[in-house]
Order: sequence, then structure tokens, then C-alpha cells
Amino acid sequence: MKKLAGEKAVEHIKDGMILGLGTGSTVKYTLEKLGELIKEGFEIKGIPTSMHTKKLAKECNIPLTTLNENPEIDLTIDGADEVDSKLNLIKGGGGALTREKIIAYHSKKEIIVIDDSKVVKALGIDFPLPVEVIKYGWTLTKKVLERFGCNVELRTIVGEPFITDNSNYILDCEFERIEDPEQLEKDINNIPGVVENGLFIGLVDEVIVGSKQGIMTLEKEVFP
Ligand code: 5RP
Repeated sequence: MKKLAGEKAVEHIKDGMILGLGTGSTVKYTLEKLGELIKEGFEIKGIPTSMHTKKLAKECNIPLTTLNENPEIDLTIDGADEVDSKLNLIKGGGGALTREKIIAYHSKKEIIVIDDSKVVKALGIDFPLPVEVIKYGWTLTKKVLERFGCNVELRTIVGEPFITDNSNYILDCEFERIEDPEQLEKDINNIPGVVENGLFIGLVDEVIVGSKQGIMTLEKEVFP
């Protein structure tokens, strides 16, 4: 289902585009398919949202550039952990949320590729909200986050703190559900020590959903 969605998104890529390259196991299929287009003579340049994607893109022979060199991004294709009916997202399962949000913000069009398990009635129901924080004083930042009524855990990997590409920590905030994602995004980013949070509000144009029944596309206009 991830493959269906990831490969379908490639149909939106046009010759000559500057592309934002998202992170995750769904976008991996997009990158592999894009590699085939490049073999056929397509000329595009990609801006990776993580070190992991940079490596994968190189393996797929996708020419790379940077946001500073090419600030006009025509299209970004990225994954998500949860999508609600307004096409707001939780992202950051792979820890790349800060770079992903910078790229999404500067993209003319943002397409999200997911399998149907990611479509939710309200954000926060199935997936904790990742928050990237600087290491300095992180236990205090954690205490402030807990005031929002969530359970907060430092993300670890094989017993050690997970370190982002920006050399920071991730605090995963488990809510029962997020009632007001628009407000929460702003409130969390106001806490000193917070770099960015995984709520993506109003940044998405289209969501491609792979399911057992096939492909479904969710567009902004469908949900006024
Ligand atoms: C990384 C992300 C990913 O896009 C998100 O976790 C979805 O990943 P996957 O396609 O592997 O399910 O936000 O920071």
C-alpha cells in the first residue's frame, strides 16, 4: 500500500523541477521510481529532508541541491504519521520533522504519500507528537510539555537517546487526542528549547492514500 502511494506521486513530477525529497519508508518508493525517470533522461534536482534520504537519493542517482542554492521548490513529496480531514498532519516518526517542515513551508506544492492506516478522525489518537528540542535543559522543556496534558518520553534507540540530523533530541508527546492542532502547534513552538514540533498545519495540498482497494486522493477543497 505504501508502494502504491509512493509510486503514484511520481506522476506529478515534471522535467526540470526542483523537488523536495521527504523521509520515510513510503517516500523510498517515490525515490526509486524517480531514479527510473532520471535514467530515461528526466532532469530534476532534489533537496533531501534528512541524511537518510540524501543517502537513498544518491543510491538512486538523483542529482541533489540545497535549499540555499535553489530556494524555489516546485514540489515536495513526503510521508506522514497521521492525516486528519483538514489535511493537517503529525510527522516526525523518522525524526526529520524540522527539515521536513522547512521544505514543506517553502514548497509551491506539498504532496503526502501514506497507507490508509494513517488517516485519522483526530490527530494524536494513534501516534505521539514528536517535538525536537535542544539538549540543553531538555528535562525542563519536558516538564513544560507535560503541562499540555500529555505523557512525554525521550526518544531512544538501542538504549541511547535518538539524535536528530540537527544534533538534537526528540520528545514524543502522547495525547489522548489533540483537540486544537492549530493552537497547539504555536503554543509548543513558544517554549524555549523547542526547535520544532511535528504538527503540520495548512501546509499540504494533496494526500495520496494507498489501500487494499487501490489509490485514493484527498485534496484540500474536498474538506472546506
Ligand atoms: C519522518 C516522517 C515520515 O515521513 C513519517 O514518519 C512517515 O514514515 P513512513 O512512510 O515510513 O511511514 O515524518 O520524520
